[in-house]
Amino acid sequence: MRIVTTPAAAREALASMPKPVGLVPTMGFLHEGHLSLVRRCRGENATAVVSIFVNPLQFGPREDLSSYPRNLVRDQDLLERLETDLVFAPDASAMYPSDASTFVEETRLSADLCGAARPGHFRGVCTVVLKLFHIVQPQRAYFGEKDFQQLQVIRRMVRDLDVPVEVVGCPLVREADGLALSSRNVYLSPEDRLRARALSRSLAHARDLVARGERDARALQREVEAFLRRDPALELDYVAVKKADTLEDADSLEGRILVALAARVGKTRLIDNSVLEV
Ligand code: PAJ
Repeated sequence: MRIVTTPAAAREALASMPKPVGLVPTMGFLHEGHLSLVRRCRGENATAVVSIFVNPLQFGPREDLSSYPRNLVRDQDLLERLETDLVFAPDASAMYPSDASTFVEETRLSADLCGAARPGHFRGVCTVVLKLFHIVQPQRAYFGEKDFQQLQVIRRMVRDLDVPVEVVGCPLVREADGLALSSRNVYLSPEDRLRARALSRSLAHARDLVARGERDARALQREVEAFLRRDPALELDYVAVKKADTLEDADSLEGRILVALAARVGKTRLIDNSVLEV
């Protein structure tokens, strides 16, 4: 496994590596969710590349950039064991010239949900992901459905800007008790960790309601909100019921429906979602 820290070194290393090349972009502090993407990438490509970069551009001024968990040594060890060929782990100065003034913005799918709650977030994501695509030039790139809106925003960017990469969406990986795996879960105190189970449980509740015949999107959203409000220590950011493929508002529930939510548990902002086939 080679480890490089600059775009030039990545290009140089990739020049002698066989195609197809698969890329898994991450911010590190890897867990089973990330590793499921890496395994899939490893299985489907001659060369497997993982990027590890805590991208300052996608964090808001009051967000957790400085405290975001990092452990590059452990990450490298995990990636080595999965037979990753190349790790690209730049620092911010290698990715962004100090006077960088060009950014990539998807304007429609980014507007709502996490985009509304985190202004500039998806602009930061799109900019870094397009840069990674240019540096690594992968045939395929792997993203988790954990960040469902991010996956759809990147699909749209790739379509709109004719980026020659196949975007592969991968299933959300959960803990045994339902909590979606996230690097941010390490922030949770033991009590908050128990509290956080309500997120996936509220989505299971939504699934039950639909199975029992609920077809009104607004009613479903209110039910999920009411479920989460039962714990006053959970601070709801949003609960949304959308058409999964376009992220447009769903009125009546039919086809692929996304139920997505974000909530603060203690100081930690967590997201979760579920796609229901109605
Ligand atoms: P990060 O949060 O590190 O996630 C990297 C990739 O792992 C994303 O595609 C994310 O959806 C996926 N992932 C995280 N948790 C998962 C889980 N429980 N199940 C399945 N997949 C999971 O997302 C980012 O980084 C950044 O925004 C990035 C795309 C790297 C751009 O900076």
